[in-house]
Amino acid sequence: MALQKYIRLDDGLCSYVREHRSGLADPVWTALRAETMRLGPLAEMMIPEEEAALLSFLVGALRVRRAIEIGTFTGASSLAIARGLAEGGRLLCLDRSEEWTRIARGFWERAGVADRIELRIGPALESLKVIEGEPNFDFAFVDADKTGYDAYYEALLPRMRRGGVLLFDNMLREGRVLESDRPDDPDTRAIRSLNDKLREDPRIEGLLLPVADGIYLCRKR
Ligand SMILES: C[S@@+](CC[C@H](N)C(=O)[O-])C[C@H]1O[C@@H](n2cnc3c(N)ncnc32)[C@H](O)[C@@H]1O
Repeated sequence: MALQKYIRLDDGLCSYVREHRSGLADPVWTALRAETMRLGPLAEMMIPEEEAALLSFLVGALRVRRAIEIGTFTGASSLAIARGLAEGGRLLCLDRSEEWTRIARGFWERAGVADRIELRIGPALESLKVIEGEPNFDFAFVDADKTGYDAYYEALLPRMRRGGVLLFDNMLREGRVLESDRPDDPDTRAIRSLNDKLREDPRIEGLLLPVADGIYLCRKR
């Protein structure tokens, strides 16, 4: 008999979980969320606050000094990562949108983390290809175009140090990963295929977490 030990979250429990963590009063986050909401339905792209808290927590616990993010939007995840960085740590952000990342830049300034962040505008795969030098990223967060995830993985992995941690967002696709035949949904097909690939990949240790819309955690061997 398989041991099924999990809890089904409803709105009430979800709020309870959200409300029971440190650092709840965060005026910068509140202002960033309000500004992002002004973009209308696009605001859904912003990661939720419990995921931001998890990013800061992990980056801090792992004492990350060199981080990279693919998919910055208005800055929620980058703000969380930058806040968790070790003394002297740096975050490289890749995004193709000047418009949305202009908002992010403003909030990096407000939070006092702008001096830790470098932003490169353009197609992320092109930006990744020109990163040279020794593999030295300790931490990577991927939250951009879903059909690009596999290519980002292959470009990022050689640039991570051994033991480095890589996170992929939206790996449950709001449950659509369970629907195998989705010819009309290339994003979900790409994510299903990457979930399968990561499980078998001997280059990493992998774990799919049911947090937010699903986060895949990889640790480079
Ligand atoms: C889901 S949003 C990222 C949300 C962000 N992580 C946050 O916490 O608010 C996706 C972002 O990926 C960017 N993006 C999508 N495709 C891209 C590509 N091929 N190259 C670079 N950026 C891309 C978009 O401009 C958008 O800002």
